[in-house]
Parts: sequence; C-alpha cells; structure tokens
Amino acid sequence: MELSTPRTMAAGPWLQLILCLAVFAAAGVRQACAQPDSKGFISIDCGLQGEEGYVDNATKLVLATDAAFTDAGTNHNISAEYITPSTARNWYTVRSFAATAGAGARSCYTLRSLVPGLKYLIRARFKYGNYDGLDRPPVFDLYVGVNLWMTVNITGPDTTMITEAIVVVPDDFVQVCLVNTGAGTPFISGIDLRPLKKTLYPQATATEGLVLLGRLNFGPVEPTDIIRYPADPHDRVWYPWIDATNWVEMSSKRKVQNVDDDHFEAPSAVMQTAIRPRNASQSIEFFWDAEPQPNDPSPGYIAIMHFSELQLLPSNAVREFYVNLNGKPWYPSGFTPDYLYSGATYNSLPSRHSRYNISINATANSTLPPIINAVEVFSVIPTTNIATDSQDVSAIMAIKTKYEVKKNWMGDPCVPKSMAWDRLTCSYAIASSPRIVTVNLSSTGLNGDISSSFATLKAVQYLDLSNNNLTGSIPDALSQLTSLTVLELSGNKLNGSIPPGLLKRIQDGSLSLRYGNNPNLCSNGASCQPAKTTRNSKLSIYIAVPIAVILVIVLVVLVLLFCFLRRKRPGSMSNSVKPQNEMTTSYALPSGVCEDGSLKLESRRFTYKELEMITNNFQRVLGRGGFGYVYDGFLEDGTQVAVKLRSHSSSQGVKEFLAEAQILTRIHHKNLVSMIGYCKDGEYMALVYEYMSEGTLQEHIEGSNRNGACLPWTQRLRIALESAQGLEYLHRGCNPPLIHRDVKASNILLNTRMEARIADFGLSKAFSGNNDTHVSTNTLVGTPGYVDPEYHATMQPTSKSDVYSFGVVLLELVTGKPAILREPVPISIIQWARQGLARGNIEGVVDGRMHGGYDVNAVWKVADVALKCTAQASVQRPTMTDVVAQLQECVELQNGRTECNANNGFYTGTSGIDPNLSYDSYTTDQSTSVSQNNTSFEMEHNFMRVPTMSKGPAAR
Ligand SMILES: *[C@@H]1O[C@H](CO)[C@@H](O)[C@H](O)[C@H]1NC(C)=O
Ligand SMILES: *[C@@H]1O[C@H](CO)[C@@H](O)[C@H](O)[C@H]1NC(C)=O
Ligand SMILES: *[C@@H]1O[C@H](CO)[C@@H](O)[C@H](O)[C@H]1NC(C)=O
Ligand SMILES: *[C@@H]1O[C@H](CO)[C@@H](O)[C@H](O)[C@H]1NC(C)=O
Repeated sequence: MELSTPRTMAAGPWLQLILCLAVFAAAGVRQACAQPDSKGFISIDCGLQGEEGYVDNATKLVLATDAAFTDAGTNHNISAEYITPSTARNWYTVRSFAATAGAGARSCYTLRSLVPGLKYLIRARFKYGNYDGLDRPPVFDLYVGVNLWMTVNITGPDTTMITEAIVVVPDDFVQVCLVNTGAGTPFISGIDLRPLKKTLYPQATATEGLVLLGRLNFGPVEPTDIIRYPADPHDRVWYPWIDATNWVEMSSKRKVQNVDDDHFEAPSAVMQTAIRPRNASQSIEFFWDAEPQPNDPSPGYIAIMHFSELQLLPSNAVREFYVNLNGKPWYPSGFTPDYLYSGATYNSLPSRHSRYNISINATANSTLPPIINAVEVFSVIPTTNIATDSQDVSAIMAIKTKYEVKKNWMGDPCVPKSMAWDRLTCSYAIASSPRIVTVNLSSTGLNGDISSSFATLKAVQYLDLSNNNLTGSIPDALSQLTSLTVLELSGNKLNGSIPPGLLKRIQDGSLSLRYGNNPNLCSNGASCQPAKTTRNSKLSIYIAVPIAVILVIVLVVLVLLFCFLRRKRPGSMSNSVKPQNEMTTSYALPSGVCEDGSLKLESRRFTYKELEMITNNFQRVLGRGGFGYVYDGFLEDGTQVAVKLRSHSSSQGVKEFLAEAQILTRIHHKNLVSMIGYCKDGEYMALVYEYMSEGTLQEHIEGSNRNGACLPWTQRLRIALESAQGLEYLHRGCNPPLIHRDVKASNILLNTRMEARIADFGLSKAFSGNNDTHVSTNTLVGTPGYVDPEYHATMQPTSKSDVYSFGVVLLELVTGKPAILREPVPISIIQWARQGLARGNIEGVVDGRMHGGYDVNAVWKVADVALKCTAQASVQRPTMTDVVAQLQECVELQNGRTECNANNGFYTGTSGIDPNLSYDSYTTDQSTSVSQNNTSFEMEHNFMRVPTMSKGPAAR
C-alpha cells in the first residue's frame, strides 16, 4: 500500500510511508497490558518469558507478558540475526501456535474488562525473525472477535508488520484470534488495545470496522518525529510524511484545539505542522492504491483529511480549497480551515476505486495556496458476524477454565460455524446471537464438582456430564434451565440427593435425568438419612481399604521404578569417570607412555555378548563415525557409556581400531575422552567410552543441541581452553608425542557439566622424535575445512597440523559458523573471518546469537589466536602450549581481571555511535524509502544503546 505523491513517484522511489501494515524495518509500536491500566490501555509483548513486564522506552507504557491473555501456544525468541541494537525489545519474542489441529485451528488472546458497545483501537504486531528456524514466514488469518480482520502475509523474516483496527466491541471482552490456513504456523509479537470515545470515528459501527492503511502527519522536519502516546492521548501512531521536493513545511508553536464533539480529536502536536505546495499556484497531490484482500477483492476506503490554519491571516487574505478525488470534487464546496482549530474532510461511506488520486487545489477566490496537516486512510471490514450470546460465552469460558478443557475450545464457541467448539452444538437465528443448545462432556475426565456455570447456559437443552469423576452434590440451580430436557449425570462420584427443583421437573415430565452409577448418590427422597450416611461411610471403608492396598502397591512400584530409572540414567546424575577405577581386567600398556601414564591404567575387556546386554541389543544410536555406529549403553552398575562398534564395512580398519585402543589406554587427561574398556571378540571390535551427555561441540555451535539454546561466550571460551589443554597434553605430555590428525568441532565432546574432552583417536599417530619431526605417511587424513594446507602439500603431519585445525575450531566458536560456509559461495571460515576482521568488523564476524554477551577484548584476542593458528606456514603458528597460555589470558580478560591493563594499546573499544553503521546492520527486506522513515524512528534506541564493540584491530 502506498500513499504517495505522483510526482515523487514519477521521480523514482515512492515514498512508501506509513502504513500500518507496512514493512517497518525498525518498527516500533510499543505497548502495554494485563488488565487495562488506568487509561484503559492494554499492551502485550507476546512471547515474553516470565511474569515481569517492562516499561517501553518510547511511550513509558508498561508492556505486559501475555500469559494472562491466552492459554495456547508457546514462547519463542526470534533468531538473533534479526535483532540489531536498534531493534525495539517488543520484537524480541513471539508466541506461536503450532497447528495441533491443522488448518482451521484457531488460537486466541482474550482482552477483558472492556465496556460493551464502546469503540476500541486494536493493534497487532508481527515480526517472524525466523524464530522457528524454518526460514518460512507464514500466512494466516487474523480475526477480531468473530470477524475476519485481515490475512496476515509475512513476506520476509525481517519484515515487521503492524495492523490496526478500530471496532465497536459488543461484549465486555474482545478476542484477537489467529487462524491457521494451512500456510504455516501463526505467531504474533504484540497486541495493543486503546479505548476510544463512542463519538470518535463515526464510520466504525457495530457492523463495520476500520482497518488502518496509513496515518500520516504532514510537515515534521525530521523523519524521527513520530507522534503517539502521550502526545496523542489515544495512542494512535502518526508517521511523518516528508517530501521536500514538492512541499513546504509550515508549523505553529501554538496549540491547535479540538472543537467540541470533534469526530477525530487529532492531537495538537500533529496539527501544529502542515505543508503547502512548493509552487504556490500548484495543488497538493498524493495517492494510494486499493489493496485487494482474499475475501474482499475491492475493499472500500475511508479517508480523513485533517486541516488547521496555522497563520493568522490578514483580513484581505483567503485560503480556500477543493479536495478532489480522481479529478472530481470530493468535498463539494471550498474548504477554509479555521485558525488553530482542527477540522477534517472525510467520507462517511466507503468509496471503492483501485487508485485514489487526491488533489487539493485552491478555489478561484483563494489568495493563498492549499494546505493539509494530516491524513488517515482506512479500509472497511464487515463486522456483521454476531458472536455467541455473551452470557453463554461467559458460562462456557468459566466451564472451560474450571475443567481445563483443551480440545479446540478457542475463540467464540459457535462462530464462525466452521470453527465452532467440539462437543457443543449451537442454534443460529437470523437477527440474534447464536446460543449453545447442547453440551456433551461425557467421558472427558472432568474432576471436581458440577460448576454452577452450567446453570447459566440458559438455552441449553441437552447436558451430558456422564462418565467423569465429578464429586459433590447436584446443584438445584440446574432446575432453572427451562429449555433443558436431558440431564445425563451417570457414572460419576456425586453424592447427596436429587435436589427438589430437579425432582419436580422430573415429575412433571419436562426433564429426563440419568444418574445411575453414582455410588454415593441418594436417589429416593428429599434428603439422605443418617442411616444411609452410615452405610455410605461403611461402603467408603470397604472401598478405602482396597484403595489403600492398591496405593501401597503403586507406591512400592513407583519407588522401585524410580530406583531402577536412577540406576539406568546415571549419565545425568553421576560423574562417569569414576567407574574406571572399578574396572577389573588390567590391560597391558602398549609401548610409549604419557605423563600420567605411569598410573596403573585399567581397562576392561568386554565380550560381544556383554556389549549386546549393555546396549540392549544395540538399540539406541548416539552417532556415527567412520568407524561405525556409536551406541548408548549402561553397565551393570548403571554407568552410562557410549559403545563404538566397528562396522564391517568401516573405512577405518582394524589397524585404526587398534591404534585408538592403544592410545586410549595410555593416555589419561581430564580433557581427553576416557575409555572404559574395549572388545575384541572374534571379528567384533568395539570401544567403550565414558558417556558424554551433551554431545558434540559442533551440535552446540549449530544450535542443534538438546535445548536449542545458544552457547554463551564464557562457555565457549572455557571449551576452547579445555580442548586446547587436551591437545597440548597429546603434544607435550606424551612421549613420543601424539598427533590427533582429526581435530574438529565434532570430535570435541561435552559432558553434563559442559566440560570438553577431545575424542576420536582413530587417526592419531605417535611420532617419535621431537615435537616437530616430520613423518611421512602415504595417505592424507583429516576432514575438509580443517586440514593444514602445509600437511596437504607435504603429506607430512606435524603437531602444527593439529594447531591449524584447532584454529578453525576457535573460529567456529567465535563466529558460530561451520568450517566451510556454503552461502553464497563456498568459502573457508578462515578466509571469511580474515576478510571480516581485516575490515575491523568484529560485530560482523562474532556470532550474533550471543547478543553481545562477551568482553569484546576477549573475543578479539581469541579471534587473533585463531588467525595465528591458521597461518599458512606452520612455523608461524603457535604451539599448543602457547595457545593454552593465550586462551588463559582470554579467560582472564573475560573475567575482567586485566581491565587495568587495557592501556596496553590492545583491543580498544570505542564509545559513541555511528548511526549509519546501525542502519547498515539491518537492510533485509526494507525499501530505502521505508528505512528513511522508520529506521530513524528507532534511532532513539540506538542512542541509548551505545555498542561497546571495538571498531577493529587497527589499533594494533
Ligand atoms: C503473500 O505475499 C506474497 C508477496 O506479496 C504473494 O506472492 C503471495 O501470493 C501472498 N500469499 C497469500 C496466501 O496471499
Ligand atoms: C480545482 O479542481 C477542480 C476539480 O478537479 C477543478 O474543477 C478546478 O478547475 C480546479 N481549480 C483550479 C483553480 O485549478
Ligand atoms: C467566491 O467569493 C464570492 C464572493 O464572496 C462568493 O459568492 C463565491 O461563492 C465564492 N466562491 C467559492 C467557490 O467559494
Ligand atoms: C531503553 O532504555 C533503557 C534505559 O534508558 C536502556 O537501558 C535500554 O537499553 C533501552 N532499550 C531499548 C530497547 O532501547
């Protein structure tokens, strides 16, 4: 939707201002919530975790969490790459409504404590931000109450959409519902509700609502001059429209008043600015295009143009103009704006065109050019669907809440018909609200007593609550349901007697009651006799005894089960290193020894049968390597282990298997994965390791770890240091040194405490002589992206080859990217990071998902170490010992221990901000003209959030 000046358009880029439903790169509508506040405002930040709301920076209104407004959906954070320093907080999270019932499923927010019959402005905000990682923005329908508001078509992950409706709310609540139309999972970022006086926007009626296309303020000088609450007490959002080429701004410092009974109450701040044509003899011209909707191919539009004279005119001066639509007078006579009073021209009935060319020209009598202060454009939507009778709605909502009914009980119970609630039937009359006529909650696990709300479903004819666990007595109020003909209560645990009112209805034949199979219910009279009570209590003893016995049995079973499970799942509870000491078979040390190799190392030899038992017949696969599959298993004592079974088709042969087994028996370090035992049983070969519950570092970097969370920087740093220590031990602690030859993120495993251990020694080789002795082998081993180019060229691996690969791992930790980036063209992470860092663009290189949660000096230093490790020539690379020392310093930097050394000229941070920088940082899916407008709106936030990031390593 564009609202444009034709000349601007002809000149090139359209001024795509506005629009509620526009692409607001930076967008910002901020808002408040829970119950309406003292102004009647509700402002919700959807998907916000916890209980606490927060104060919105722009409006100082409190934005509430959404838990009190909906019982559906799940909270999500948008992907970090769509959050920039200028992204307002209200876009950080969404609530999404997975399609449990597929297309047609409706999920709603309920805004309560409203005044029936009053007008409300309701805004819904959407920013997809790839929160679900699917990179597939959805299309879904948005309803206000039981009426379609619009089809929300999210066109890109960075697109922010805001839509606003002005509607008459018939009840004391209104629902905002998202309906799955089979084109992706609906989600929402925020909702605002603002009450409006009845007299405002007369075009919004009980049967017609207004959906905002644009609300523009002419004449502000700065594109940042967005006006909303508190300047506009109704918190409408007025975006500036600036076109210096065609228009001259005018303004007044004096307040512009509203007349009594003003239909629009344009705020003074908006009315105090205006424009006139730059060429005084010309007219003011702009246009917008109709936006056909799937359900309404030619929507009607309402335009409201606001005018106020801002100059005190001499008596001989006249400002009078026509307002023309598509070349025809729209406002029939000349209009003269009043000095410092708001006036408006508008159409009461929607007009339907495909384009609306507005031209405002001076009349022949006028001595002054035309002016305009503001414009609002709305499309109209029918709101003729009538919601279910409000008393029925309150009753069934209370029932839903009390019994925690899930099903599809969302939105209105009967309307639209296609979304009516399961287990209910409704009657639909032409001119009155639908009513609930049958309720069948048979066998739905209802607990507690019979809700008195059933007695307020005044039109119900058939009520079935049979076969649940309902307790307590039958409420007599049910006898007041005059339409009720069948009451089905059998198969519950009701007690007391049939109340007299119901007995009477049964007797006069107007009601059929079924109450069988309620052991404690007295069915034969007005009240239960004491004798019966006694019988009942005896009965309850008879019942209670077996129940107690059953309870004891259940408890015992539970306890046993618990112990069993505890035994079965120790991986998450105990340190799995310990069982090593319990191993029985000792294993002869192979030749060569590592530093603590002098310790008596014990390793257990397993038979294949034992492995079958341990792994429950190789049931659960943990992973797969060149060697074969790795299976989950439990030793007899409950220790969880990983069993790597050599597959017969394995490319890794017997030799590698033996190499690893031998190495693992002679090495022992807290940062190397430890072997619990091995199996060499005929043709079967397997290694049994300690279980590393958190999987590989690679999974965590990708964010595909179990909880999907982003690894925080401090943890990354610790993992870097620990894996470096493991490698250093291989290089320095072993004699002869060991070269791992396949260092990569997927060979670094993490335990429950997120401690890093180097794994997979299948390619490791011991090379005699000193650390840097070159040994020729005839095959190149390693993983693409990690292989030392020098080794590649010479076929001579050295410990510096491991250093090189480890540098790649460090870059992965810093950037969150894989060793080889695939998009847009395949490029090694080393090359990519070097390019970024050479430009001093650390922000562009560091993993954005960390949200700046790091010390920039520490990050720079790690990046620097990584670049040194990945130097082309091995002599330029540090040793693992150097790397460990450097990383140790990084940890200290991160912990702030060396803050006072910051004057060493290293890693300086800059203060202040280059706004252009932040502009650049979110260029996705926004047209230049829009960003001109809205990006700037967000600048206020930029200024409050000065990034502490360094401009780059240039200082070095
Ligand atoms: C959503 O918008 C895109 C781009 O404007 C369009 O191609 C697509 O057809 C729309 N989808 C629906 C369901 O309206
Ligand atoms: C202004 O517009 C009206 C309607 O289009 C037209 O009839 C009239 O001649 C115009 N007046 C001037 C002074 O251009
Ligand atoms: C112009 O002024 C004359 C004399 O005051 C008045 O009769 C006439 O209606 C005016 N014309 C318009 C278009 O306002
Ligand atoms: C809002 O303002 C506070 C305090 O001025 C600031 O700390 C915070 O970063 C700001 N938030 C945003 C999103 O700009």
